[in-house]
Amino acid sequence: MRRLFARTLARPLVLAAAATAIPLGSAAPAAADSIVVGGFPVEVSDSPWTVALSSRDRFGGTRAGQFCGGVAVGRTTVLTAAHCLGEEVLGSPPEQVGDLKVIAGRTDLLSDQGQEIPVRSVWVNPGHDDSSNAGDFAVLTLSKALPAGSVIGMAAEGDPAYTPDTGALVYGWGDTSGAGDYANGLHAARVRVLPDASCERAYPGSDDGRYLSSTMLCAGEEAGGRDACQGDSGGPLVGQGRLIGLVSWGSGCGRPGSPGVYTRVSSILRTLGWDGTAADRRGGL
Ligand code: ARG
Repeated sequence: MRRLFARTLARPLVLAAAATAIPLGSAAPAAADSIVVGGFPVEVSDSPWTVALSSRDRFGGTRAGQFCGGVAVGRTTVLTAAHCLGEEVLGSPPEQVGDLKVIAGRTDLLSDQGQEIPVRSVWVNPGHDDSSNAGDFAVLTLSKALPAGSVIGMAAEGDPAYTPDTGALVYGWGDTSGAGDYANGLHAARVRVLPDASCERAYPGSDDGRYLSSTMLCAGEEAGGRDACQGDSGGPLVGQGRLIGLVSWGSGCGRPGSPGVYTRVSSILRTLGWDGTAADRRGGL
């Protein structure tokens, strides 16, 4: 699988201006992608900011409609990947997916643990470039606040957590093998931040995308084995306790020489004009 799911399936919407959040109204249908290979099961209470995006109308109810990951950066603010909300993934513009929800506090998708919170509005980065996959992020506003303590801080530019070789954890409910074995339980994989040069070498520009260090972050293991995979997109990459990346794309999963590519959180902060403190503490969103 050379192309990332979203890039194969999703043509991201270019939604108007940054200020124009799209209120969600009625419903719609669809299908999904992958997650963590070489990982281990974790409890969501260990990373309560890790959430699942769900639409049973689109993806069916077997795994509670999970199709992507997300990360709570404010009690009503969730970051995810722009490509997760593309029309080729959702089958329609996100505002027409009436049952778009965030599932929080649920380790096992087959359980009824935690809560399902409807998404009130969606803002997709209008700068998301479908051919390189640059700027792959979106902001979801929830209709109800998550519990206090389920929010992670974001690493601003210059944070040591971005330094190559730093250990990081990626979380998700995606494919655990690269062969379509979607997890019911949350998994995490231990990876390392890799130098930009590793991804520049792996992804100089092809159908997969093109690695651009200004908006992307390279992580994995040079030898392969541990990586995010399909279904993990939009979920968190956490280094030194802070959010440094969102699962975005890669070539296959866990292949030697093909690291994972993440949306660089410092570039999200720059684009949104945020300062890195949690959204609810800033008073915005
Ligand atoms: N695009 C995938 C998704 O939509 C994520 C792929 C990540 N791949 C990787 N090798 N790290 O779920």
